[in-house]
Amino acid sequence: MRRAFILLALTSIVAVGSAPAGAVGAPGSPAAAQPAAAEPAAAEPVAVDADDLTPTPPMGFNNWNATFCRAEFNESMVKSMADIFVSTGLRDAGYEYVNMDDCWARPQNGPLGSRDAQGHLVPDPVRFPNGIKAVADYVHSRGLKFGIYHDAGTKTCNGQGFDGVLGQGYVAGNRRYEQIDAQDFANWGVDLVKHDWCNVPLSQVPPCTIPTQNPPCSGPRNLKARELYRTMRDALDATGRPIVFQVATLGDPGVQPWEWAADIGAQYWRTTGDIRANYTSMSNIAKFNMTLADYQRPGRWNDADMLQVGNAREGSGTWTLTEQETHFSLWSIMASPLLIGTDLRRATPETMDILLNKDVIAVNQDPLGVQGRLVRPVTNGQYVLAKPLENGDIAVALWNDTLSEQRISTSAVEIGFPAARDVYLMKDLWSKKLSVSRGEIAATVPPHGTVVLRVKLRPGPPGRPPVE
Ligand code: GLA
Repeated sequence: MRRAFILLALTSIVAVGSAPAGAVGAPGSPAAAQPAAAEPAAAEPVAVDADDLTPTPPMGFNNWNATFCRAEFNESMVKSMADIFVSTGLRDAGYEYVNMDDCWARPQNGPLGSRDAQGHLVPDPVRFPNGIKAVADYVHSRGLKFGIYHDAGTKTCNGQGFDGVLGQGYVAGNRRYEQIDAQDFANWGVDLVKHDWCNVPLSQVPPCTIPTQNPPCSGPRNLKARELYRTMRDALDATGRPIVFQVATLGDPGVQPWEWAADIGAQYWRTTGDIRANYTSMSNIAKFNMTLADYQRPGRWNDADMLQVGNAREGSGTWTLTEQETHFSLWSIMASPLLIGTDLRRATPETMDILLNKDVIAVNQDPLGVQGRLVRPVTNGQYVLAKPLENGDIAVALWNDTLSEQRISTSAVEIGFPAARDVYLMKDLWSKKLSVSRGEIAATVPPHGTVVLRVKLRPGPPGRPPVE
């Protein structure tokens, strides 16, 4: 396992003044806005373990599902999301990152191209007239962290997109932009990079140069992807700024980031194609993502893509609040990142209620850092997932993937408790109803609905009568 240590010069600690030692240089702190690499070298470096950047799944916002590349994606929109995080309690509930997606830089197909004469990406002057650092500074001033989007190829994914790290027209041997882009991100105060996988001229990309036996790679495409992502991760590390790295290979069937992303130092990795705002898309993603539980470990997360909660309509489809609660429940029990994808300026109270369900969030953010698993094969569209929690409780999701109401039943032993004869206290994390059980865990679940229960073994000797 790769342990990426980022060395911060001692002088940067001194500059922080009264900040607690553990927060030195942390993304979002005043000192973090100054790249440590620019400081003169000091005698005693301090190690920041990049494995610790996301001890629980990242929570935050990303504009993509809300705006795509429409003109409304701009400085004022991004700042508003930071304000709303604070005013609505989202920040206090754990939402931390405000992330910008594609189209923040000058379009590649515009008259000036994406880069200046020195090769730096130029922020889109209409969307971001004050540059990116101004936005990052604002987000930091609200006590939040700031994320940005990039691409491993010649151009990002959208038609209005900009140069990736290979640069326009890349052929083998050309100048590449990993270092220059990474240093610009660090200088701007970026805390998280989503690195996408579009327009990659694989025939021009050098083969893998790191050992391939462990884990085994399944093909040259996968190897080359790993190499490209590793190069960007290394460039980010070289800046000295702790930056979360997301591998976003958008479901390319030839690329299996779960096999290598943690080892190259990424904190989380997409497992599927893009999520759409409807039940079919969400449920298909969930079903695939839950097969990958073996690849997750604390601090390194399978990413089932950004939330569509609050986006009730896409194309001709709509979905219900019950279905959106299922979406939030499944992402939480699977320990997937929770990145809000709706325009919070227009969010309904019902949307906010889902996003602010602190009991469900606590399941996602549990410090044990385990992805929930299916406890038995799926039958009749009934999915039973269990997630062990740090205090010994076990969270259970009873997901009804059918169009009729179903009674879904499991047991304390099936979800992982050791003995059958104890007494269990259960809390329904959506209805908040409390109940007591001697071992059966069951609920009547509406069509496409999910009941999430937090189950606690009642302290005391086995066999005590239930508490009324
Ligand atoms: C890909 C990604 C999306 C989004 C767009 C931007 O499709 O999977 O999440 O970043 O690119 O163009």
